[in-house]
Amino acid sequence: MKFSAVELIIKKREHQALTTDEINWLVDAYTKGAVADEQMSAMAMAILLNGMEREEIRDLTMAMIASGERLDFSGLSAKTADKHSTGGVGDKITLPLAPLVASYGVAVPQLSGRGLGHTGGTLDKLEAIPGWQASLSNTELYSQLAEIGAVICAAGAGLAPADRKLYSLRDVTGTVEAIPLIASSIMSKKIAEGTSALVLDVKVGSGAFMKTLDRATELAKVLVQLGQDAGVKTSALLTDMSTPLGFKIGNALEVEESVEVLTGGGPKDVVELTVELAKEMLMHVGITGVDPTENLNNGKAMDIWRKMITAQGGDLDAPMAKAKEWHTIRASSSGFVFQLDALALGVSSWRLGAGRERKEDAVQFGAGIELHHQVGDEVAAGDALMTLYTDTPEKFERAIEIAESGISISEAMPAERKLILGKIS
Ligand code: URA
Repeated sequence: MKFSAVELIIKKREHQALTTDEINWLVDAYTKGAVADEQMSAMAMAILLNGMEREEIRDLTMAMIASGERLDFSGLSAKTADKHSTGGVGDKITLPLAPLVASYGVAVPQLSGRGLGHTGGTLDKLEAIPGWQASLSNTELYSQLAEIGAVICAAGAGLAPADRKLYSLRDVTGTVEAIPLIASSIMSKKIAEGTSALVLDVKVGSGAFMKTLDRATELAKVLVQLGQDAGVKTSALLTDMSTPLGFKIGNALEVEESVEVLTGGGPKDVVELTVELAKEMLMHVGITGVDPTENLNNGKAMDIWRKMITAQGGDLDAPMAKAKEWHTIRASSSGFVFQLDALALGVSSWRLGAGRERKEDAVQFGAGIELHHQVGDEVAAGDALMTLYTDTPEKFERAIEIAESGISISEAMPAERKLILGKIS
């Protein structure tokens, strides 16, 4: 053995920086099983508590990339651009965004994940479409990208396997929120995926990993630097996640809302974020001066959506699952909807069955929450505020309690929501 895991843990515990060789050895030995889970857990906690310098974060990212394969889209005639969100509630933006950007001739390889905890996963949402398959071989991915221009599929097991192993460990050891670990986890997958441009949607607020603008800004700067160091054109938007995006939370519900956006309708906030992220992705590949709203309104993005879903076996004419039971929460007083807390509604939707408790659990495609109002709306006592859906009514009691804890109605009108809070480039 070249190094000792215990010595490296102690070094990080004592606030010292790890060298490139030490990090390469650690990640390689952990991926192969020579460093034990308990040792990597201690290291993750030491990193969470004591941080890492920029060089260490870059080394960690590169070592995680080297643990697996790298995709190469340089043979495509179109330029590639991708988007990554740090995760939020009602965040279905990838669904309309990928076909929208592809409708301008850009190749969009959107390798996505499943939800764990209160934030939903893109693959779980698309699997609500009967027949849709998340797994594609690298050859299928490449040819769909060449023929249709957009692919949303599961990131293969070969991409950054060290991250896969470390992420599961962090999830059960209270070490998810460390900026060096989040940044290297996200960027190792995105750089290995081989996109030439990347736009990050870094969420801020109760429903996000980063609860404050300062922390989110710090994360965004690290992410952008890592991308640029690796030769990927990278920028980040900081966006509000204090309240859910749109009116629908849950798998089939979010597909429905995405289709509304693709037919030129949909909630104002979902449309605004889709359009802003599309502009940013297009700008990185040299397309400026277009208004992406046009291709939402004229059906061009919808055409790509249909082709993209059908190519992966999805039947867009078949009905999606609907929950068997529902419960409506009504306003307890008259006034302005002051708060609809993203975390409370995300956890409530998860408890209703839209998300999973353990990785191996199945999700209920029809479960979730439909909001009838957003923050700032005026309501009268007794008005319907939201409807909760599930197939398992025994889940209602706890889910209602959690959702209600996130609602407040006030006589004062809340400040208007600012969706885009900043940009790092
Ligand atoms: N998303 C990831 O892929 N990794 C993290 O650590 C956090 C969010």
